[in-house]
Amino acid sequence: MDLKTGREFDVPIGAVVKLCDSGQIQVVDDEGNEHWISPQNASHIKPMHPTSIHGVEDMIRLGDLNEAGILRNLLIRYREHLIYTYTGSILVAVNPYQLLPIYSPEQIRLYTNKKIGEMPPHIFAIADNCYFNMQRNNKDQCCIISGESGAGKTESTKLILQFLAAISGQHSWIEQQVLEANPILEAFGNAKTIRNDNSSRFGKYIDIHFNKRGAIEGAKIEQYLLEKSRVCRQAQDERNYHVFYCMLRGMTLEQKKKLGLGKATDYNYLAMGNCTTCDGRDDSKEYANIRSAMKVLMFTDTENWEISKLLAAILHMGNLQYEARTYDNLDACEVVQSASLITAASLLEVEPQDVMNCLTSRTIITRGETVSTPLSMEQALDVRDAFVKGIYGRLFVWIVEKINAAIYRPPSQELKSIRRSIGLLDIFGFENFTVNSFEQLCINFANENLQQFFVRHVFKLEQEEYNLENINWQHIEFTDNQDALDMIAIKPMNIISLIDEESKFPKGTDATMLHKLNSQHKLNTNYIPPKNNYETQFGINHFAGIVYYETKGFLEKNRDTLHGDIIQLVHSSKNKFIKQIFQADVAMGAETRKRSPTLSSQFKRSLELLMRTLSVCQPFFVRCIKPNEYKKPMLFDRELCVRQLRYSGMMETIRIRRAGYPIRYTFVEFVDRYRVLMPGVKPAYKQGDLRGTCQRIAEAVLGKDDDWQIGKTKIFLKDHHDMLLEIERDKAITDKVILIQKVVRGFKDRSNFLKVRNSVLMIQRYWRGHNCRKNYGAMRIGFLRLQALYRSRKLHKQYHMARRRIIEFQARCRGYLVRRAFRHRLWAVLTVQAYARGMIARRLYKRLRGEYHRRLEAEKLRLAEEERLRKEMSAKKAKEEAEKKHQVRLAQLAREDAEREVKEKEEARRKKELLEKMEKARNEPVNDSEMVDKMFGFLGTTSSLPGQEGQAPNGFEDLEQAQKELEEEDLDAALPLPEEEEEDLSEYKFAKFAATYFQGTTTHTYIRRPLKQPLLYHEDEGDQLAALAVWITILRFMGDLPEPKYHTAMSDGGEKIPVMTKIYETLGKKTYKKELQALQGEGEVTAAAVKETLTHIDGHKKNSVRHKLVSLTLKKKSKLTEETT
Ligand SMILES: Nc1ncnc2c1ncn2[C@@H]1O[C@H](COP(=O)(O)OP(=O)(O)OP(=O)(O)O)[C@@H](O)[C@H]1O
Ligand SMILES: [Mg+2]
Repeated sequence: MDLKTGREFDVPIGAVVKLCDSGQIQVVDDEGNEHWISPQNASHIKPMHPTSIHGVEDMIRLGDLNEAGILRNLLIRYREHLIYTYTGSILVAVNPYQLLPIYSPEQIRLYTNKKIGEMPPHIFAIADNCYFNMQRNNKDQCCIISGESGAGKTESTKLILQFLAAISGQHSWIEQQVLEANPILEAFGNAKTIRNDNSSRFGKYIDIHFNKRGAIEGAKIEQYLLEKSRVCRQAQDERNYHVFYCMLRGMTLEQKKKLGLGKATDYNYLAMGNCTTCDGRDDSKEYANIRSAMKVLMFTDTENWEISKLLAAILHMGNLQYEARTYDNLDACEVVQSASLITAASLLEVEPQDVMNCLTSRTIITRGETVSTPLSMEQALDVRDAFVKGIYGRLFVWIVEKINAAIYRPPSQELKSIRRSIGLLDIFGFENFTVNSFEQLCINFANENLQQFFVRHVFKLEQEEYNLENINWQHIEFTDNQDALDMIAIKPMNIISLIDEESKFPKGTDATMLHKLNSQHKLNTNYIPPKNNYETQFGINHFAGIVYYETKGFLEKNRDTLHGDIIQLVHSSKNKFIKQIFQADVAMGAETRKRSPTLSSQFKRSLELLMRTLSVCQPFFVRCIKPNEYKKPMLFDRELCVRQLRYSGMMETIRIRRAGYPIRYTFVEFVDRYRVLMPGVKPAYKQGDLRGTCQRIAEAVLGKDDDWQIGKTKIFLKDHHDMLLEIERDKAITDKVILIQKVVRGFKDRSNFLKVRNSVLMIQRYWRGHNCRKNYGAMRIGFLRLQALYRSRKLHKQYHMARRRIIEFQARCRGYLVRRAFRHRLWAVLTVQAYARGMIARRLYKRLRGEYHRRLEAEKLRLAEEERLRKEMSAKKAKEEAEKKHQVRLAQLAREDAEREVKEKEEARRKKELLEKMEKARNEPVNDSEMVDKMFGFLGTTSSLPGQEGQAPNGFEDLEQAQKELEEEDLDAALPLPEEEEEDLSEYKFAKFAATYFQGTTTHTYIRRPLKQPLLYHEDEGDQLAALAVWITILRFMGDLPEPKYHTAMSDGGEKIPVMTKIYETLGKKTYKKELQALQGEGEVTAAAVKETLTHIDGHKKNSVRHKLVSLTLKKKSKLTEETT
């Protein structure tokens, strides 16, 4: 996705489509930002090549072979901690800023003797290939490691060195010495900068020599362009070279005292950047390392001490104080007498006064005369700094030489042919700062050279490959940076030579130099002249972009010479060491010094040497990339990386490749990838003629005449061919995928369907079974109910029919009985009515007759009275008197009648009440005790007359009738009933019965004591006893004998023991059984005395049996009553 911001280092970013909604597309880019792309911005997005999706190990394989593709590939790999990636033969290493577990001895072993590409990309793979190529091809190898400051060049160099030491591994002394050279070089040549805590401030080329067995035999270190200005100046948050801080931290107090040293903060040269410590660095420990490394590399103690002395002198020089003066109208200055001056002078072993003079004045020789002119303060400070830089620069050169002396063995004549080397170039990459000076020009010049070398190498490789594959490559063109190089340093009047010339020209200034550059190169397309006369910058169009150089100080830097006075001062020194490091300068005369090579020419020469060395080597390239400016792990700054990719020259590889056939596949790869485009083509491993198959596929898809070529092992394609092939492949694969999907989905859906159907059938089965069972159950119940209903109805009908019949029958019977009874009653009623009316009529007649008789009597009396009175009085008066008395008697009679009538009425009312009462009593519920009372009540009163005991109990209605009969009899006494109705009841009388049947003198009256013998005669003794027992029970029942104890105990519980139970208990089972037997044995008269007492029946056998049954019924009844209560 290209957001088209127009920024210089902005490149399209990878993104994933998240949503496609109403023409708009939502994408999430690699940095997690969401974007909406509208249809009019559709050109902003373009499909990603399949190779870019998950990244590739060799970026040459990327379909999107452009900056965006490379950047995304690096990014996705970096996120997975895969910091190494190839671009053809170049290894791209992204600084992880964290220690990854990929440098172990195990990894070294894994990468040993492997071809590039066999294992994942790794710095060890490069080192391994260097080593084995060197041995196999008997050719020197070199490894060019480039990148920005902090990108990891030095670390990569060290890793390669370690790998080489490990695989060539003898653990020899020389090997150790080669490895130990690094700490010393880093101490003197590295410093903390804002970009890198261990920034190498010089370029170096380490040439490692191997003997014929492949063991390290020696090495040679070449150093380039040490940044000497750092000794005097550091930017904010930067430090001077590590060695100063290490020395101040690591030296003993005694040593420090000898050198007059204190803390780092005491020295202007160390405290300028306000930063004297560095996180993660222990300076005192480092000092120990440096000392031990120096020992390994044969630095003597004296040399060591001398170095320390010079370093200390530099620090003291930095603390010198100046005072401005004016002599003869000339600006001058003086060095303040101070301890620093004295110590510095003593350490340099020169006179302090000489130092003062040397630093504040300049001797000029004109026409054979020596004239001393004072220096202004500014100039004096420059002189001091130049002196200090001179000392440090030469010291550094001396140290490198010293190291080389230890590790370098010049090849002996006879061994020359078999000694091989691997060179490691750790050199600053292309630089483009806001202000670029002479140093940047040198560095970028070096990088132009390296780029040229690189491009040629890549092109050569390409060329080789085409040749090898028999590919026609004539038309491949590429642009290299030869023009720029020509302008800078090759062609006559080049920039470097012009600067040099101007540096040597006595009147030459930076301005005159710029003028010359302009006039010489203004027409060159690679030169950008200043816009106007006041501007002091010129620009060069380098391979990696335009860089503007500030010309101020160019000549001075280029001259890089020390003033004669300083050389003189050194010459006057008693210190052999300083003399030694300045040996070359001292040896030269003043004039020769002037003509001595400038910095640029020196640099150019060493660069030429280097390029010559490299050109005979088989090169490997390592491009280090710094992912962010903050030295932080897992932080990927896209713009920063794009800039480095451009400067790394990697795009050149791509350009060269694109110019030819950027896409190439081996036949196997091609067949396996594109055989899908030709139906019937078998996989590569089954093919005999792979080349032919490739050709057929290519011809079929790309056409015969198109510009693709087929080599010996590979097929070479242009970008658009690859695109076409990919599109076709995509289509074909999509078709196949759809087919597979169709089948698989069909299969899946079908099996799923079958599963579901089986399940459904199963469920249905169970459900239907369940339903049927349920319905069957319901129906069964229904049928049962129907049956029941039907049967019940049938039964009901039958019952009702039977009932109706019975009722009808009953009704008829009852009707009959009722009619009969009614007739009988009617007859009885009519009879009673007749009798009653007769009786009433007779009574009325009797009364009327009586009244008539009484009235007659009274009339008679009146007449007799009248008669009698007539005798006494007059007739009339007698009559009146008799009448009067007669009236009194009549009144008396009337009164008597009235009284009798009242009495009769009263009697009638009482009878009516009695009847009503009886009627009510008959309707009342039966009460057990009452019933017993009623049944046996008559026994209570001995005096009561038989037949007058009250109403008879149930079952004794016949007796009742008898009673009624008795009442009737009473009535009959007044009104005799018809003759035929009367019955002889005398035989039923108790008294008569007793007199007839009871033994001895026993009467029918109840006695309150036990009997001596049963009332009736019994043959069986048991019966006799039973009869006696029954009597005793009766006495107890009546309360005339006390209850036996257990009975009282039982009855105490409030439990009412039925009378008959008591009777059974008293009699015992045996007696009861016998009684039953007696009943069964028909005709036997062995009735119990009690029953005989109760039943009041005669000795008639038939009657006795009937009454016994009646009494049994009674027993049962009472038992039932008991149970129901
Ligand atoms: N392979 C690596 N694994 C872990 N850390 C690394 C690796 N490479 C570099 N670094 C880290 O990055 C820092 C800078 O690396 P290095 O000093 O090699 O950079 P440089 O390219 O040499 O920079 P300069 O040009 O300033 O010398 C190291 O101090 C280290 O912390
Ligand atoms: Mg470095």
